[in-house]
Amino acid sequence: MSKKVLVTGVAGFIGSHLVKSLHALGYQVAACDKVDPHSGLAGAADLADPFLARLRKDRLQACVTRLGVKYFQIDIGQADAFASVVAQWQPDTVVHLAAQAGVRHSMQAPMDFVTPNLVGFSHVLDACHRLQVPRLLYASSSSVYGMRSQVPFVESDRTDQPQSFYAATKMANELMAYAYHSQYGMASLGMRFFTVYGPWGRTDMAPFMFAQNIRRGLPIKVFGEGKLRRDFTYVDDIVEAIVGLVAHPSLVAGASIVNMGHQRPVEVNAFIDLLAGHLKRQPIIEYAPMQVADVALTCASEDRLLGMLGSWRETPLDKGLEYFVQWLQDWDPLD
Ligand SMILES: NC(=O)c1ccc[n+]([C@@H]2O[C@H](COP(=O)([O-])OP(=O)(O)OC[C@H]3O[C@@H](n4cnc5c(N)ncnc54)[C@H](O)[C@@H]3O)[C@@H](O)[C@H]2O)c1
Repeated sequence: MSKKVLVTGVAGFIGSHLVKSLHALGYQVAACDKVDPHSGLAGAADLADPFLARLRKDRLQACVTRLGVKYFQIDIGQADAFASVVAQWQPDTVVHLAAQAGVRHSMQAPMDFVTPNLVGFSHVLDACHRLQVPRLLYASSSSVYGMRSQVPFVESDRTDQPQSFYAATKMANELMAYAYHSQYGMASLGMRFFTVYGPWGRTDMAPFMFAQNIRRGLPIKVFGEGKLRRDFTYVDDIVEAIVGLVAHPSLVAGASIVNMGHQRPVEVNAFIDLLAGHLKRQPIIEYAPMQVADVALTCASEDRLLGMLGSWRETPLDKGLEYFVQWLQDWDPLD
């Protein structure tokens, strides 16, 4: 069993849940992010999103400050910043989640992805190698599969035709990790997450944006006539899988890749119906054409993950959205 874990991206959606869970299970866990825990900000650009800073600040409060978890405020894009954290904490497992996320954002500002996702990832890899961290788990993405109609998506499928620059950076991460395994024998596991949703979710993702507008009687913009299908995955399912992998170090060997999704794609229109049902409001939908960076469908084969863990929890979408709406109404009550 791993004893000392270091999680990057703890001010983020998945990282904050993971740290809380590892702490509750008795792991020695430390965490890092670029976000200032007092303001929730990491840069002036964050001010453009009215909910982002508050959300990050509250996440850090709940999963770091209140629990007494050691927090390092660093930018992984800066040389030696991550290595100095590893040198101080000496983890036996690093779970690297910090990144610039967001397929649509990468259409508007691809350069935002270069430092965190490519340079930062290199720093994480290299520090883990030089300071002999036994294993690295890192976030990849379903977006590496690109535009496919053949389902489910299997880890051995080709992934050399990304639809977005974001997907390209995630694919690059997988190749970089493979090279560090080939050159130095480093053990890593890339986790391809499939559309994660749930409490404390990201402000730039559909569940949060849709819910906030539906609650306020504002229109929601839905791409591709709402016919895009996504393998929505509840955040606790993702966290349980990561914890299972952390608990069994022998599962992280070579330079492997694993899908984290349930092979149950749902049309965005059906997703909106469920969400609006829990919000008890009628959505006002404005359809827009599919975006260039979007893919029509995501659908994970979960066979490899099941082979590794034996079993994996599955929260039904309706239940997960109920939990999400409960959290949102609590966190951001409307007057
Ligand atoms: N949420 C999803 O549906 C999903 C799907 C596929 C892949 N992923 C990947 O999973 C990981 C976690 O996703 P999330 O949804 O929690 O994202 P998030 O944006 O909520 O969290 C990412 C965190 O990384 C931090 N970060 C970014 N750049 C940094 C830097 N240079 N130095 C230090 N910290 C930095 C951010 O401050 C943020 O707190 C990401 O790598 C993302 O690409 C997420």
